[in-house]
Amino acid sequence: MHNGISLTQFIIEEQRHIPGATGDFTSLLNDIVTACKVISNLVNHGALVGILGTAGTENVQGEVQKKLDVLSNEIFIKSNEWAGHLAAMASEEMDSIYPIPDKYPRGKYLLTFDPLDGSSNIDVNVSVGTIFSILRRPGGGEVSERDFLQAGTQQVAAGYAIYGPATMLVLTTGNGVNGFTLDQNIGEFILTHPKMQIPADTSEFAINMSNMRFWEPPVRRYVQECLDGKEGPRAKDFNMRWIASMVADVHRILTRGGVFMYPIDAKIKAKGETGRLRLLYEANPMSFIVEQAGGGAITGRERILEVQPESLHQRVPVVLGSKNEVERILAYHQEG
Ligand code: AHG
Ligand code: MN
Ligand code: MN
Ligand code: MN
Repeated sequence: MHNGISLTQFIIEEQRHIPGATGDFTSLLNDIVTACKVISNLVNHGALVGILGTAGTENVQGEVQKKLDVLSNEIFIKSNEWAGHLAAMASEEMDSIYPIPDKYPRGKYLLTFDPLDGSSNIDVNVSVGTIFSILRRPGGGEVSERDFLQAGTQQVAAGYAIYGPATMLVLTTGNGVNGFTLDQNIGEFILTHPKMQIPADTSEFAINMSNMRFWEPPVRRYVQECLDGKEGPRAKDFNMRWIASMVADVHRILTRGGVFMYPIDAKIKAKGETGRLRLLYEANPMSFIVEQAGGGAITGRERILEVQPESLHQRVPVVLGSKNEVERILAYHQEG
């Protein structure tokens, strides 16, 4: 039994150091955490509560929605709409923004989320997660999609929950990264991974190798050099992992280092798309967390957090993780 610092205590104590903090933000984070606990409970029960399988619908990005994609989205909305901290929300599973209904007060924050990351893993009982990002609402008047189109550097906080062998919540408010483990008996997240740091060097990479024939030359070069191992230019052997839940792959990198890539490729371009992962609720929150843990996060050519978003569901190429590897991949892209 762990009698440590709870996430609630941690957030309140951290807020004390922020001048002008009103408690609004603390309360918003608490509501997000509650939503993650509800999703965690559902995921844990799996087939027992009939939540596996597809919902029979498609989201705006043309993906088949799983029942749990839709349910998690509803849970996030219900937990976060009533308290008066938010002006609007946006999610992978909603075509357009969700302004807070008139029956509730509207607040100064915006929330974006991927309610369930790693959908393809639900039915096979492999780790999935939830990703979220908090922005400040820029102006007054009617809230619009435009309010959400802020560069990742503007994020106030970002985090993810991972529903794995243990449920964990990893959070940054721009002052490092801390990891909490859910104690199911008392229903509280307890600080178990303070000040998480990504080692600058690694010998592990993560990429969907089945797309190899579509990759651009810099990515091909990088991965080939990893595969060449001790005998190649890197003079060391590399290991590979691909969980196909970004949350789980990023969590591994935060724990022991590594590099994660979902680059632009010819197949993605042929579909008229600009990447696989979505900027506002996947790439930006994860990049904020990774940078706060001492890692790097780029599209291949530029820092993800500096990309100016043009639309709600915009996609970007993603390369993130151990700093020296990310810098190497950037250099390979710059060399052409
Ligand atoms: P989501 O389940 O939220 O749609 O996201 C899935 C993403 C990401 O989590 C993962 O890294 C990637 O898709 C997996 O892609 P492949 O199916 O190409 O492996
Ligand atoms: Mn999806
Ligand atoms: Mn996702
Ligand atoms: Mn998702």
